[in-house]
Amino acid sequence: MTDSYLQIRDLRKAFPTRQGETRALDGVSLTIARGEFVAVLGPSGCGKSTMMLMVAGLLRPSGGEVRVAGRPVDKPITDVGIVFQNPVLLDWLTVLGNAMFVANLRHLPKAEVEPRARELLRAVGLGGFEQHRPYQLSGGMKQRTAICRALVLDPPLLLMDEPFGALDALTREQMRLDLERLWLQSPKTVVFVTHSVAEAVLLADRVVILSPRPGRIERIIDIDLPRPRGLQARRHPRFAEYEQAITDIFLAGGVLRA
Ligand SMILES: Nc1ncnc2c1ncn2[C@@H]1O[C@H](COP(=O)(O)OP(=O)(O)OP(=O)(O)O)[C@@H](O)[C@H]1O
Ligand SMILES: [Mg+2]
Repeated sequence: MTDSYLQIRDLRKAFPTRQGETRALDGVSLTIARGEFVAVLGPSGCGKSTMMLMVAGLLRPSGGEVRVAGRPVDKPITDVGIVFQNPVLLDWLTVLGNAMFVANLRHLPKAEVEPRARELLRAVGLGGFEQHRPYQLSGGMKQRTAICRALVLDPPLLLMDEPFGALDALTREQMRLDLERLWLQSPKTVVFVTHSVAEAVLLADRVVILSPRPGRIERIIDIDLPRPRGLQARRHPRFAEYEQAITDIFLAGGVLRA
């Protein structure tokens, strides 16, 4: 592989619990190129969040290996923006403070980071809320703040675990358009977990479909739709074909029943 950025090799995770062992992920191998946008789809509980935590170095695998930019991940990686399934904001910081949190942790110059944070907040519709506290925000607004926090340092790798899950349909569509635009402006490697088949097809270069727990790779589908996909891509004849093909895989796997 020429310019692979993220390598996941035979990744496994089993959680010992009092009720016995839960095998969350069972031998996932995947190589993602620098600048590639990969969406991960799979039924609830199949190990998607577990996989993301291991890629970020926040959870130790039971087996297998993750490499980022050629280096084995054995501690939390820093050159990454992460959007967790729950936004996890700090209550005592303002929206702007939360968006700048990682930058402040690393003592980066405020003069550079703050304008970018403000610009991102405006881009996601949070202009005017910079000085609000998280408890004064709606669920969707919290999630958008977390997205700004992940993007503020323009990281080479972006791990997004259902980032739009808490958003209303319109904001979600807008966030998808904004994310594609940001990604086209400054390409980064993205792993994007979603439950939405349409969202996966509209955003990704490749869609990885995981099986029910323990998660394994069921299929990988290349998405050949012109970019920017914007709002038009839904009307592209291949869009419906991809959506149908993925739905058929979930039907065949018993994840969906007709
Ligand atoms: N810390 C933990 N201890 C024990 N079991 C865990 C832990 N974290 C996750 N699990 C189990 O691992 C499995 C996979 O969980 P995970 O959160 O990765 O699923 P997911 O694919 O992200 O699901 P969803 O789509 O609902 O977010 C589940 O069965 C869950 O119960
Ligand atoms: Mg999850």
